[in-house]
Amino acid sequence: MQAIVLVGGEGTRLRPLTETVPKPALTLVDRPFLAYMIEWLASHGVTEVVLACGFLPDVLRNALADEEERAGARIRYVAEPEPLGTAGAIRFAADALGGDLDERFLALNGDVLTDLNLSALLGAHESGQARATLGLYPVGDSAAYGLVQTGLDGAVSEFTEKTGKAAPGEVNAGMYVLERSVLDLIPAGENVSIERDVFPRLVGEGMNGLRLDGYWMDIGTPERYLQASWDILEGAVDTRVEPTAPGVLIGDGTEIAGDAAIGPRAVVAPGCRVGPAAEIRDSVLLTGCEIGAGARVRDSVLAPGVAVAAGASIEGEVAGEGERVPR
Ligand code: GDD
Ligand code: MG
Repeated sequence: MQAIVLVGGEGTRLRPLTETVPKPALTLVDRPFLAYMIEWLASHGVTEVVLACGFLPDVLRNALADEEERAGARIRYVAEPEPLGTAGAIRFAADALGGDLDERFLALNGDVLTDLNLSALLGAHESGQARATLGLYPVGDSAAYGLVQTGLDGAVSEFTEKTGKAAPGEVNAGMYVLERSVLDLIPAGENVSIERDVFPRLVGEGMNGLRLDGYWMDIGTPERYLQASWDILEGAVDTRVEPTAPGVLIGDGTEIAGDAAIGPRAVVAPGCRVGPAAEIRDSVLLTGCEIGAGARVRDSVLAPGVAVAAGASIEGEVAGEGERVPR
C-alpha cells in the first residue's frame, strides 16, 4: 500500500520552534514529528510513503535520513513549485508517480499524531466498495475541522469544512482511502482543496466514512506540542518511543547535576547540560540546551541550543534555536 502524505503547511503557530525547521522535521520527544506518522503507516502495511512537500524537502530529507530503515517503508519526496492546496498536492504527487501509483492508495494530512486503526479503514473501504473512504474522529468542538455526516450504511451525506460552530460531531481525521478515479475530479496544476472542492462533489457518489477510535491530535500549538510529548511518554498514544520513566525521557550524552530535579514530566534531549539545583518540570529541552545552576524551567519548550541563565525562572516560555533566556 502507498500513502501520499501532505506536508506543505508552514506550521506558523509553532513559531519560533518552526523558524529553523519545518514542522514535520521538528523533534517531538526523540524523533522528527513526521516519523510517528511514517511508523504508524508502516505498522498498518504501508510500504511506500510519498511526502508531498510545499517547499525545499532537503531539511526534511536530512531529518528523516534514518527513518526508512527504522520504519521499514520507502520514502519518496515530491515538491510542488507552488502550494496547490490539499487536492492539488495529491494530484501533483500522483502525476509525479505516474504508473507507479497503485489503483488504490491512502492520502493523509501530515500534521497529526495518531494511532487510529488504519487497517479498519482499509477494510471498510474494501467491503463498502467505495471510491473514497474517510477516517472520522469524534470531537466535542468541530468548528475548526471538516464536519462529516454519515448514514447508517456509512455513506457520507454531508461534508462541511470549518463550520465555525462549536458543536460536537464526527470530523474528518485527514486520512482517506482513495481510488485513482478520484484524481479525475482534480484539475492538474490548479490550487484545489479536497475538503472544499472535491469531497462535496463525492457526496452520494461512492464516498463513505468510518469512525475510528484511539488517539488523534493536531500538534499545531506549543501547548499541544507539550501535551503530545506527555501523551507519548505516558503511553496515551501508541508509539515506538521507550521512555526513561513514565513521563520522562533523558537522552544520551546529557550532563545532569546530581541535585537537579527533573520531572515529573520532562524531555532532556541528547547533549543537554543541567546545572546544580536546577529544576526542569513539564518542559521539553531539545538537543544541546544549557540550564544554569539553580534555574527553574516550567511548562516551556526550548529549541536546540537554548541557554537559560543561572538562577533564572521561566514559565510558559517557547524559545527558538540558540536563544539566551531570559532575553
Ligand atoms: N503539499 C501541500 N500543499 N500540503 C498542504 C497544502 C498544499 O498546498 N495545504 C495544506 N497542506 C497540508 C498541511 O501541511 C497539513 O498537513 C494538511 O495538508 C492539512 O492542512 P491544514 O492547513 O493543516 O488543514 P486544517 O488542519 O485546517 O484542516 C484539515 O485537517 C483537519 C484535521 O486536522 C482538513 O482536512 C479538515 O477537514 C480536517 O478536519
Ligand atoms: Mg491541520
